[in-house]
Amino acid sequence: MTISSAPGKIILFGEHAVVYGRPALAVPVMQVHADVEVSDSARRGVWIDAPAVGLQAELTTLPSDHPIASVINNLFFLSGVSPFPNLEVKISSTIPVAAGLGSGAAVTVALTRALAAHLNHAMTDEELNAFTYEIEKLHHGTPSGIDNTVVTYARPVYFVKSPAGEGDATTFTVGQPFTLVIGDTGISAPTRESVAVVRKLLESDPKYWDNVFDQVEEISFAARRVIEDGWLKMLGALMDENHMLLQEMTVSSAELDRLVEAARRAGALGAKLSGGGRGGNMIALVTPETAETVSLALKEAGARNTIITQVT
Ligand code: MEV
Repeated sequence: MTISSAPGKIILFGEHAVVYGRPALAVPVMQVHADVEVSDSARRGVWIDAPAVGLQAELTTLPSDHPIASVINNLFFLSGVSPFPNLEVKISSTIPVAAGLGSGAAVTVALTRALAAHLNHAMTDEELNAFTYEIEKLHHGTPSGIDNTVVTYARPVYFVKSPAGEGDATTFTVGQPFTLVIGDTGISAPTRESVAVVRKLLESDPKYWDNVFDQVEEISFAARRVIEDGWLKMLGALMDENHMLLQEMTVSSAELDRLVEAARRAGALGAKLSGGGRGGNMIALVTPETAETVSLALKEAGARNTIITQVT
């Protein structure tokens, strides 16, 4: 049996603007993960069992553009395995789907790693990242590549998409560990849709929106320095500013704004939506002392779930 696991992720700064070449910062969230087990099977075929998405099926009965089938078929193709082996593939995940936590990328990374290892197909992290980006493109239209990068390397990432589409990712150091509360609106919001909304805005007035993206870029630049130097108060203010620009891009929502406000009122140093928006998750910067109070305030304001996580 071969097993593999991949974490969730959250974007700290720069979502959406990152699709248009501006930098963004993201970190892995180890508390939630996708886990995959691959084993040889006595049954003929490749049997997939993914209870979280209600899937129990043999590979050839799935449409070829099914997210899980496309990972397996593409990896079989890449590794040149023939005939297809008989396998049992078990997929489980604690990462909420369509919530901005990178669940799709995490399933692809864990599944690809487990399958590649099981088939003795050597794959570097760079190859795995490029493979996952191709799969992300099949399902998310024009992703920047930040999700697959942070999930593949499982470390903080300062990411800039290059014009060719591949990303340039460096890691950043965290001068002083900080605590975030992640609040889930419980509203599923496919990233593909919010990315399309922002693209329409950009097309309607390129000059104006390029300027908005430039302001996000300045925030991401500043945030990187502030995180490296450990100035947490300033970090909170930058999160508030970034949230305002995301509101302007129309990717916030009444529920996200309510959680952001509740977090600030409960003592968070700053708060913003995280990821595609229009639902999904928000993040609040807290101190270890205010973490529980903010988490409770988020639940009272309607958060389906909260996660307290340390960025180190
Ligand atoms: C999604 O996690 C982040 C977005 O910027 C889209 C992307 O970067 O592909 C909204």
